[in-house]
Amino acid sequence: MTNNNQNTLEKLKEEARSALAECESLASLEEWRINYLGRRGAISTVMGSLGGLDQDSRRTLGKASNDLKILLQDEYDDKVQEVSVSQNAENQVTGIDVTLPGRNPPQGSFHPTTLIVREIAAAFAPMGFRVVEGPEVELDTYNFQKLNIPADHPARDMWNSLWVDYPNDPDLRPFLLRTHTSPMQIRVMEQETPPIRVIVPGKAFRYEATDATHEWQFTQIEGLAIDKGIGFADLKGTLDAFAKSIFGETRKTRFRCDFFPFVEPGAEMSIDCFKCDGEGCRVCSHTGWIEILGAGMVHPEVLRGVGYDPNIYSGFAFGMGAERIAMLRQGIDDIRHFYANDLRFLKQFSQQ
Ligand code: DAH
Repeated sequence: MTNNNQNTLEKLKEEARSALAECESLASLEEWRINYLGRRGAISTVMGSLGGLDQDSRRTLGKASNDLKILLQDEYDDKVQEVSVSQNAENQVTGIDVTLPGRNPPQGSFHPTTLIVREIAAAFAPMGFRVVEGPEVELDTYNFQKLNIPADHPARDMWNSLWVDYPNDPDLRPFLLRTHTSPMQIRVMEQETPPIRVIVPGKAFRYEATDATHEWQFTQIEGLAIDKGIGFADLKGTLDAFAKSIFGETRKTRFRCDFFPFVEPGAEMSIDCFKCDGEGCRVCSHTGWIEILGAGMVHPEVLRGVGYDPNIYSGFAFGMGAERIAMLRQGIDDIRHFYANDLRFLKQFSQQ
């Protein structure tokens, strides 16, 4: 009985070793491991049959099969090692070097316009302005009429518009791609009661030829503050704080009269040139000043139009081009770079 069993073990050892010698891939080695060392493999089967033997035979054969298991496990481990090494070597011959570091997938980054919009929003946030957004396709009423720009009024010439036709539903006209983000002043005032403090970043569209400072699609940031007792000093203080936050604490601001139909009085704000500190250089066209936005006190007609009593409420509004601010800040010489989708340009902002 015992002798028989010992022969079986001996045979098993030979068979297992010669099968192992033939394994040349990790896959065949795994198959071999399952066949011989696995839970239902040959060695386990032998060990499982020991139960019927007397104690002495059980002990000797138990030890013998255990020794065989350890021996085969060792030889198997060595073989796995050997096959892995030769497989790596083979891969190297075929050009795959598994020791090379991996390739990093390209990493995206924020568009420079997104970055400046966020920065501007962050400059206004501590002064109580929250961000709202509105439709890019807008009604004539909101884009013009309620902003005190009646149909056929020459002031419309300030905005070359892209009109949208809905041929199947004439009632839906006239629509246009908004020429500025100012219509959101009206939408916010119609829906809320003062105090209001919002900024509105978003796309604006103009029917214009493109050049270094004009794009037919660009980004504007509108601002609106309405409350009891807001005056021009609040406008100046708010926009001065904004300018310092974006262009540096030592910046000076200058306000001059300008015309926009929805404000009275209207103004343009300039900062003293950060490049030459007001001396005069190329950046400021040798004037010492750089115009950065339009602003003014919200026109009483506009307030009345949304149902506010101009004797109770007043406020100011402002609007600026986001790309223009980014161009000044970063020394970008052509607005068309923003929309050319050229990675050489865009990657320069990826660290911010
Ligand atoms: N919407 C004006 C434009 O597109 C910019 C602007 C000027 C907005 C004065 C304002 C403002 O709110 O008060 O040219």
